Amino acid sequence: MSLSVLKEILLTEERILGRVAELGEEISRDYAGRDLVLVTVLKGSVVFLSDLTRAIAIPHSFDFVGASSYGAGAESAGKVRITHDVSIDLAGRDVVLVEDICDTGRTLETLTNLAALHRARSIEICVLLVKDRGRPREKEHGIRYVGFHIPDVFVVGYGLDYGERYRNLRCVGVLDMESAR
Ligand code: IMP
Ligand code: MG
Repeated sequence: MSLSVLKEILLTEERILGRVAELGEEISRDYAGRDLVLVTVLKGSVVFLSDLTRAIAIPHSFDFVGASSYGAGAESAGKVRITHDVSIDLAGRDVVLVEDICDTGRTLETLTNLAALHRARSIEICVLLVKDRGRPREKEHGIRYVGFHIPDVFVVGYGLDYGERYRNLRCVGVLDMESAR
């Protein structure tokens, strides 16, 4: 696919994969001997998950949750709806929530509550991108694993969409709204 829909490339494929490998090693060390389940949000995080699961060297499972906070556009709807629950039992297990991007943090809050409802033994969060909205740092302290901090801009690629498109870009970039129309 042509990259001309991007105004700027923020993260190249090489940088993303390098960081995902580091996160995988870290999680493998931290969860050795534990009952790890990665719980991922559809659909944006599946690209991240597919690389992260293969970067983790210890036995583990993964499952999916459907959640939507954005409609088809670039504005937050301000509400998170669970559209699909996990299908495997999380009770007594060590859950790591895997998210593509943390913007307002509402999706992660909803997912944390959901995993708690399923009586997970422990719940941690792994996010590829944290948008720097000038929010107080302590709000982020709930996130154990962060891939990259990015500026408060709308990005696409590596699973992230605009109106369900551009998820297939290998890099993460800033969408050029003019050429995306
Ligand atoms: P939050 O609940 O506001 O943290 O939003 C998280 C969800 O909104 C993510 O899982 C994405 O699906 C979507 N989102 C937030 N920012 C962006 C962006 O820059 N590009 C594409 N999707 C985004
Ligand atoms: Mg989305």
